[in-house]
Amino acid sequence: MNPYFSEKFGNAGSLHFLGQENREAIERARKQIASLINALPREIIFTSGGTESNNLAIRGALRALGRSGSDCHIITSTIEHYAVQNIFKSLEKDGVKAARVECDSAGVVKVDMLEDLIRAETVLVSIMLANNETGVIQPIKEIAAILSGRDIIFHVDAVQGIGKIMVDVKELGADLLSISAHKFYGPKGTGALYVKKGTPIKAVYSGGAQEFYLRPGTENVPSLVGLGEACRISESMLPMEMERICGLRDRMEEDILKKIPDVSIIGKEVSRVPNTSDIIVSRVEAEAIVLNLSALGFCISSGSACSTGKNGTSAVMGAIGLKPELARGVIRVSLGIRNTERDINSFVEVLGGVVKRLRDISPIR
Ligand SMILES: Cc1ncc(COP(=O)(O)O)c(C=O)c1O
Repeated sequence: MNPYFSEKFGNAGSLHFLGQENREAIERARKQIASLINALPREIIFTSGGTESNNLAIRGALRALGRSGSDCHIITSTIEHYAVQNIFKSLEKDGVKAARVECDSAGVVKVDMLEDLIRAETVLVSIMLANNETGVIQPIKEIAAILSGRDIIFHVDAVQGIGKIMVDVKELGADLLSISAHKFYGPKGTGALYVKKGTPIKAVYSGGAQEFYLRPGTENVPSLVGLGEACRISESMLPMEMERICGLRDRMEEDILKKIPDVSIIGKEVSRVPNTSDIIVSRVEAEAIVLNLSALGFCISSGSACSTGKNGTSAVMGAIGLKPELARGVIRVSLGIRNTERDINSFVEVLGGVVKRLRDISPIR
């Protein structure tokens, strides 16, 4: 990324050589993303991240269809990230009709229920590829099969899946698919939307002709170069890293279940992205664990971070039917490419000590 902040500081819209080397860098990044997800470069639209990609996908598709108000029905799930949930809420305020499919106790969206929710006026379905709290992978191919042959646009928020599992947009059957760079070591504030050739979509911002008239504004070249490079590295490392990280995660979970009493893992029985572990620790507050671990050098999050629902606990935990007293003790551990067996060993030991100490002083029995 560095040269594009300094000596290669051109505008990709300019005809001179400084501009053109920036244009080439953007098109190289476009090819790198397309290659990672088996799309055509022309099907990649750069954005400022997952949130904007979701907005462009959902609002842009409805705009292109010219559908609004009560003749427009859209479907999502109860476990989506705020970056989808709140778009749906805002569209509902404008009169659009929306339905939400529920998930089972493992956190998997109920495909049968989704099929029952489809109406003649349904124009768009938006379901995430992997949940941001549980890591549970959703039945995207099955949903695509149900939608195929109907005039319904299928958007997939793949922000938590790209860079963690192999994603092939053709195999998945998505029409629109959102990507965020910082979820797989790219720069923050950068992302992309895959738009399958022929999918109706219009820009949501007004402005210039950049990004095939879908996302106006001068391109953020250093960040796009970073996103492209993250995709290139991901494509070469992913198969091996997936296996390694999954092995570490499974070992960590086995150790935790063996050594720490009264804990359980959400979604252990279903497919999850390899790096995520959502752990219910009964009789303690997740935030207390997070702060204690932080003081000891470990960065994890409370399961409910940035997604507070009823009772101050996560909406996703509510959706899978977890009681509020258990939801308050959910921690999320995410492993990455730098983590090793040694990290796992010391983490489990330190976590065991922290949980014991907190339980010893807790008034909850
Ligand atoms: C599933 C999901 N969708 C969308 C987003 C929003 O992405 P961004 O922060 O790049 O806007 C996130 C961020 O955590 C996410 O986990």
